[in-house]
Amino acid sequence: MVFSASQNSDLKKAAEIILAGGIVAVPTETVYGLAANALNPEAVRKIFMAKGRPFIDPLIVHVLDFALLEKIAEPNESARRLYEAFCPGPITFVLNKKPCIPDIVSAGKPTVAVRMPSHKTMRKFMEIAGVPLSAPSANPFGYVSPTTAAHVEAQLGDKIDAIIDGGSCECGVESTIVMLSDESRPMLLRPGPVPRAEIEKVLGKKLIDPKEKNPAHPTAPGMLKTHYSPRAKVVLFGDFCEAEEGAARVFFTRPKNPQNGDFWLSENSDPKEAARNLFGLLRSLDCSYKKIFCQRLPNEGVGEAVNDRLSRAAEK
Ligand code: TXA
Ligand code: MG
Repeated sequence: MVFSASQNSDLKKAAEIILAGGIVAVPTETVYGLAANALNPEAVRKIFMAKGRPFIDPLIVHVLDFALLEKIAEPNESARRLYEAFCPGPITFVLNKKPCIPDIVSAGKPTVAVRMPSHKTMRKFMEIAGVPLSAPSANPFGYVSPTTAAHVEAQLGDKIDAIIDGGSCECGVESTIVMLSDESRPMLLRPGPVPRAEIEKVLGKKLIDPKEKNPAHPTAPGMLKTHYSPRAKVVLFGDFCEAEEGAARVFFTRPKNPQNGDFWLSENSDPKEAARNLFGLLRSLDCSYKKIFCQRLPNEGVGEAVNDRLSRAAEK
């Protein structure tokens, strides 16, 4: 069942599904999520089953504001500062959890990931539902995240109770995740739309890279190397890439003389536009090419997040 974002009555019906223990795909400014009432373990279990996601991989809980965050997690000064600077928006905080969060949400960890999305429909929906929503990206485990309702429908349509169509996602890559449970060692678990440098400016500290801590045991299972993969073989390049019969080339920006099989993420070297188009383009090329060459972006701002997803797609 696909619900329209513009109909309040549709949002109410979708909220009833959530309160009855169902699962609903929801639009956010980053990617589409697959939501359930975070306080209902049986409902949360359905998310794992629909995605084929291992139970060791914890979920992000979505709330409207800081007051609600305080009901499920233990915020600290760093969380308060980042909240003031970037929320609502595409950033997730990992904090010590409160007992009301079921183990299935946090995968038995003492921490919980929390985020406050800015997407208008999602905010209206959260207000109507009135419960915290645990929501991973709405894709089968390991595949690229969906950025339109049609992407969700194509892969999970028969496994979920409803989809709220809120148009295509503005950021196009998943939220930035910062681990703040140990304030003296803030860690960037996943680069995203809120850039590393801006977070460091607000905290007045460098963010630690989880690989420095322990490369064999990633702190966020989403940091597994082969996450976010299309089926096609993805090969990365820097400045130059020879065309190859039957393979696609994806450039950062429109090439001067595009050839057959050439595609680009941005018309005019805009990393935000590139991020917005990344997953949709990979999805559509995945249907018609077995090999996709992808150009890395300059590794700054949201470019770091795009490069991160590209290297994971290439790791197979
Ligand atoms: O933009 C987003 O964050 C989207 C939208 C739907 O909000 N959600 C999303 O969720 O990307 P998901 O489940 O695909 O990625 C969440 C990542 C996973 O890699 C998970 O391992 C990590 O967050 N995570 C969740 N809870 C954690 C925790 N307590 N400690 C460390 N990592 C955690
Ligand atoms: Mg995901």
